[in-house]
Amino acid sequence: MKPDGRVGILISGRGSNMEAIVRAAEERRIPGVVAVVISNLPEAPGLKKAQEHGIETLALEPRSASKSENYDRRIVAALEERRVDLVCLAGYMRILTAVFLKAYGGRILNIHPSLLPAFPGLEVQRKALEYGVRYSGATVHFVDAEVDTGPIVLQAVVPVESDDTPATLAARILAEEHRIYPESVRLFLEGRLQIEGRRVRILPAPG
Ligand code: GAR
Repeated sequence: MKPDGRVGILISGRGSNMEAIVRAAEERRIPGVVAVVISNLPEAPGLKKAQEHGIETLALEPRSASKSENYDRRIVAALEERRVDLVCLAGYMRILTAVFLKAYGGRILNIHPSLLPAFPGLEVQRKALEYGVRYSGATVHFVDAEVDTGPIVLQAVVPVESDDTPATLAARILAEEHRIYPESVRLFLEGRLQIEGRRVRILPAPG
């Protein structure tokens, strides 16, 4: 039997997407284990949540907020030490450098709370409401050298209601994030995601 895929999750905050992936692994909805959860912020509430699930956690503090190859070397070393196959960014608020991409290119997923390429970056729900879109949503994508630009794996569409605030829209989107992120991890670990330029082909399930 193929060994379980080993997933490393990077967070900076609450960690609800991390927990959705952890739960999926515990319930065997994905053929993998979460080997480690790493945060750049020691006070990230998600670290405690991961520990409650019995998962190893690391708080690796960078020297500065800007992206750093030296910092990414430390993260990559920690991931490689734990033989991580797939890296999931889950509310991880740092930009990756070429060092990270060289080590894990094509094996890093990110979740973003909009229908990319609309509204990349920060304060996404506020921007979506101000723009007046009728639909927003969530995107899981491979990470490439730019921010929020990599090939798209799965998206989920969420309607915008007339009385939405950034918080109510974020909550509706988050529920979809918790569905499509574990699903994307499952497809990756099943070897069913094939990147072809900008497009990701989802291969049929074997058998
Ligand atoms: C999620 O909504 C995620 O999509 C977003 O941060 C939140 C983290 O929540 N990520 C980004 O905006 C990345 N650009 P969580 O810590 O509860 O998973």
